[in-house]
Amino acid sequence: MKEIEQLQTRINEALKQLTLPESPSNLYDPIKYILELGGKRVRPMLALLSYKLYKEDIEPAVVPALALEVFHNFTLVHDDIMDEAPLRRGKETVHKKWNENIAILSGDVMLVEAYKLLGKAPKEVLPKLLEKFNACAQEVCEGQQKDMDFESRPYVSVDEYLDMIRQKTAVLLGFSLEMGAILAGAPDKDCELLYEAGVNLGIAFQLQDDLLDLYGGEAFGKQVGGDIINKKKSFLITKALELSETKDSLLQLYNSSNTKSDEKVGKVKQVFEELDLEAKTQRFIKKFENLGQDKIEQINCQNKEGLTTLLHSLRTRTY
Ligand code: IPE
Ligand code: IPE
Ligand code: MG
Ligand code: MG
Ligand code: MG
Repeated sequence: MKEIEQLQTRINEALKQLTLPESPSNLYDPIKYILELGGKRVRPMLALLSYKLYKEDIEPAVVPALALEVFHNFTLVHDDIMDEAPLRRGKETVHKKWNENIAILSGDVMLVEAYKLLGKAPKEVLPKLLEKFNACAQEVCEGQQKDMDFESRPYVSVDEYLDMIRQKTAVLLGFSLEMGAILAGAPDKDCELLYEAGVNLGIAFQLQDDLLDLYGGEAFGKQVGGDIINKKKSFLITKALELSETKDSLLQLYNSSNTKSDEKVGKVKQVFEELDLEAKTQRFIKKFENLGQDKIEQINCQNKEGLTTLLHSLRTRTY
C-alpha cells in the first residue's frame, strides 16, 4: 500500500507543477479547480505501475502519465454537462459553479494540455503513443455518444451496455497500462496483454461506478441515484429490464419525469432489491476482474505486487 500512496503523492506533486496562465480566469480557474478537487488518479497510477514492471525509476514516465489524468478530467467536465450532474468529488461541478459555456471551453483547453503533456514523451515512442491515444480518445467519444443515445432508448441490452462502457471508460484504462509498458520499451506482446487487462478491469471499474452511484452514499461524492434521476442506462437498469417480469411498468417508472427525485430513486431501488441486483452486479464485476487478472498473470515479469495492490484497492473503494 505504501508504494501506491507514494505514487499518488508523486502524481499530485507533478500535477501541482503544471503551470497554467492566470488569464482569462474563466478559462483557467475551472481547470485548476477540477484538478485540485482530488480524485483517485487511477489512470496515471496504472501507467506508472506498468512502467515499473520493467524499469525501476519512474521519473521519465511521470509527465507523459499526467496526460492521462488531464484527459480524464476533461472528459469529466464535459460528462457532467451531459449528465446534468450537480456534484463531482463532493463539490459543485464546473458547469454549476461557473456555467456550461465555461465548462465546454475549459474542457477543450484541458484536451490541448493533455496533448502537450503527451508530447513530452521520448521521441522514439511518441508516434506510437499518439496513434494509440488518438484511437482511444475517439473511442471514448463514441462511447459517450452511445451513452447519450441510450438515455432516450426504451430498451438497451446488456451486450450493448457492455460495448458502450468498454468505449467510454475501459479503453482509457487499457491505454493507461499499455502506455506505461510502451514508455518502458516492453515487448509488444506484453503491451497488448496489458491493454487487454486494462480493458477488462475498466469494464469492472465502470460496473462498480454504476453500483456506487446508487449504493455509495454521499462518500461517493456524486448525487446519490444520479443515474436513476437522469434516466441513464446503467448496468443496474439494463440487467433489471432483462430480468423483470414487469418490464413495462419498470420502464414507465424509470422514464418518468413527474415523480419527485427521491421518491423515484426509492421506488427503483426497491425493484432492484427484489431482483437481487446488487449481488448480481458484484458477480459480474468479479467476472471481468478475473479476465483482467488472467491477462496480467500471462505477463512474464516480476514486481506485480504494486499493480495487484492497486487493483485490490479499486475493488474495495468507496469513491
Ligand atoms: C469516474 O472516474 C468516471 C468513470 C469513468 C467511472 P474515477 O472514478 O476515476 O474518478 P476520479 O478521478 O477518481 O474522481
Ligand atoms: C463517465 O461515466 C465516463 C466518462 C467520463 C468518459 P459516468 O457518467 O458514469 O461517470 P460519473 O459517474 O459521472 O463519474
Ligand atoms: Mg456519463
Ligand atoms: Mg456522469
Ligand atoms: Mg457513473
